[in-house]
Amino acid sequence: MKCVVTGTSGQLGYDIIKELKNQGYNDIIGLTHKDMDLSDPFEVQTTIINLKPDIVFHCAAYTKVDLAEEESKLCEQINTIGTKQIAIACKKIHAKLIYISTDYIFDGNKNSEYFEDDFCNPQNVYGMTKYLGELYTRINPNTFIVRISWVFGINGKNFIKTMLKLAENHTEVNVICDQIGSPTYTVDLAKLLVAMAQTEKYGTYHATNEGFCSWADLAEYVFQSNGLDVKVNRILTSDYPQKAKRPFNSRLNKDKLENCGFQRLPSWQDAIDRFNQELKKEKVLKKITF
Ligand SMILES: NC(=O)c1ccc[n+]([C@@H]2O[C@H](COP(=O)([O-])OP(=O)(O)OC[C@H]3O[C@@H](n4cnc5c(N)ncnc54)[C@H](OP(=O)(O)O)[C@@H]3O)[C@@H](O)[C@H]2O)c1
Repeated sequence: MKCVVTGTSGQLGYDIIKELKNQGYNDIIGLTHKDMDLSDPFEVQTTIINLKPDIVFHCAAYTKVDLAEEESKLCEQINTIGTKQIAIACKKIHAKLIYISTDYIFDGNKNSEYFEDDFCNPQNVYGMTKYLGELYTRINPNTFIVRISWVFGINGKNFIKTMLKLAENHTEVNVICDQIGSPTYTVDLAKLLVAMAQTEKYGTYHATNEGFCSWADLAEYVFQSNGLDVKVNRILTSDYPQKAKRPFNSRLNKDKLENCGFQRLPSWQDAIDRFNQELKKEKVLKKITF
């Protein structure tokens, strides 16, 4: 199976390449921004068609959620139009497509978990462009749409790394406690996506680590699991104004994964414990290398 992965300089794309290699795939092409600019429709179509993969893992996206409120045109060009071109190209060459989407396609006003076919009502530019991207992926019938949230992985910026950085010179931090969701470890997600790629069970899925928490709960666990004595002051979203509106409820129901024969991801605490180990290993390697 010839695999193309977009966004390999980001968190998820990086770990998908690693997982594919671990599983013995050897026809893998990772695309960075430099190899294929999603904001250039012609370049996207020609690149994918010329490579003629059996599957595209489409992880690249404009992910600066707050800046997107100002750069809405660019965000739309990359997340919506770029994705549309990928879907058209995949259809032309009969390739499977895995499109990574987000909890931000929901408004967060529901009082319980969101199911895959619940009404979508994005509240910010980023969420809207990703949702329109979802709609366009349906051009290609052989598509998986996988909605994830609160992503963390070794290759990029994320909330966990920010908390650990803050702990270097803070004894207390303010963290939002009224947005509830689930973290998603890219190592765990990559395993699921590679498993999906081997099937024809196309459709929309939710995939995050198991269990729900607030950002404040997550920060507390990060400090506690690293033996760091940092106090978390639990603040409200209204105390921390941001340009882009975020959903209060990002709880994604994942029953469909199991119903379709896929494995649920481990608990988010288990994922953080393993990420801590991964970060420690990376630190040791850096010390040896430099
Ligand atoms: N991060 C989250 O919390 C989160 C939550 C829900 C869903 N998601 C979705 O999950 C996927 C993976 O997220 P992630 O955290 O791995 O993202 P990330 O680390 O921010 O990486 C984004 C990737 O997209 C690439 N990219 C940006 N603009 C591009 C362009 N014009 N052309 C080609 N490539 C471009 C970036 O390359 P450069 O760095 O070279 O620009 C980078 O490799 C994305 O689709 C995202 O929307 C993320």
